[in-house]
Amino acid sequence: MHDSSKEPAIAADNLAAAAPPDTKRNGGVSRKAFLATGVAATVGAGLGPLGTSVKAFADNGHGRLNDGDEAILRLLAAAELLEADLWQQYNELGGIQDKEEPGGSGSKTYVEALQVLDEDMPQYIHDNTDDEVSHAAFLNAYLESRGGRPVNLDKFRNLPSSKAPGAQQIGRLTNLMELTTDTSWWTRYRSSTANPDLGGTFAPAVPGLLKGKFTAIPRNEADEEPGNHLQAIANTAGFHFCTIEQGGTTLYPGLAQRVSDPEVLRVLLSIGPTEAMHFQTWHDKAGNAPALTDPTNGLEFPDLNETGSEEFKTNLIMPEPTIFLKKTLPAVSIVRPTNTVGAAAVDFVEFFVKEGLFRGQSPQFFATLNRLATEAEEASRRP
Ligand SMILES: [Fe+2]
Ligand SMILES: [Fe+2]
Repeated sequence: MHDSSKEPAIAADNLAAAAPPDTKRNGGVSRKAFLATGVAATVGAGLGPLGTSVKAFADNGHGRLNDGDEAILRLLAAAELLEADLWQQYNELGGIQDKEEPGGSGSKTYVEALQVLDEDMPQYIHDNTDDEVSHAAFLNAYLESRGGRPVNLDKFRNLPSSKAPGAQQIGRLTNLMELTTDTSWWTRYRSSTANPDLGGTFAPAVPGLLKGKFTAIPRNEADEEPGNHLQAIANTAGFHFCTIEQGGTTLYPGLAQRVSDPEVLRVLLSIGPTEAMHFQTWHDKAGNAPALTDPTNGLEFPDLNETGSEEFKTNLIMPEPTIFLKKTLPAVSIVRPTNTVGAAAVDFVEFFVKEGLFRGQSPQFFATLNRLATEAEEASRRP
């Protein structure tokens, strides 16, 4: 595991050099431009050219972002760039490649293994990818429109691509081939008596995923052979999709409690719930992952309904009402955790560092991510 806490902090400004203005197409700007060109788009869908945006905000009485709100939006922009990077990798091999999400050419056998979970998996992967790309492009454009600094992680796009046919050969920000995935969100959302904000701890749905480094995409042609190994890779992806999206589901409400500008709050409250929509969809599909053991590494996917425990039952995908704020209050159905007194931003980053999503990244990358999280952590809370 990479211990990012021991790395020297570097100025976040180093990575945040303002990206050059995007070139306009058809009188507007492609929100995909930042992926296609490797440069953060300066204007997102719906905002119009930069000049117009600035004027519009000025006309509405919105001024420059305060430092705390800017730090929060910058961490979110970084998180969304990372999400977009990983979802693009999934889409190239397991999703639908089209004008909206170009890049790969797909892996027939991986798609078939994913479709064991649900036949619409390629469409959902495509649409989740599209959403993350839009989140990143919008947040960076919004930052700029309010006088803030956009986030550009392009210099860290150095991790290798899968060598399986269908994947583009380009540098990546994230590593989907050595994941140590924590699936305790499964029981966290099924518990009626515990809440992580009140000290609750939760058992993982697939303990084996925490006991090694597992790929969620075929790494090469050998991984694409139909059978339990490839199905285990697709199952890993199915659980990883939820792991990512439950993180976003928690991050937005956590940080929303710290912003001060009503419009920034609106941005967070409008994007955050889409992460929950993703989580809910994937949560339903993960329950369809077939029980099996990967013959190559012993990774076991248990039959979650066989335990007889409500904590594992696959169709209990709605958040179970549980304790919130004080144990004396009635149980309530909620996102969890949302406590922002602790280290909401740093915890979020640490969770994904720990799962190995950035295995192979440079010390500078971890230092940058830590810096962005720390700055968001220090942002003032709403009065
Ligand atoms: Fe997102
Ligand atoms: Fe997301």
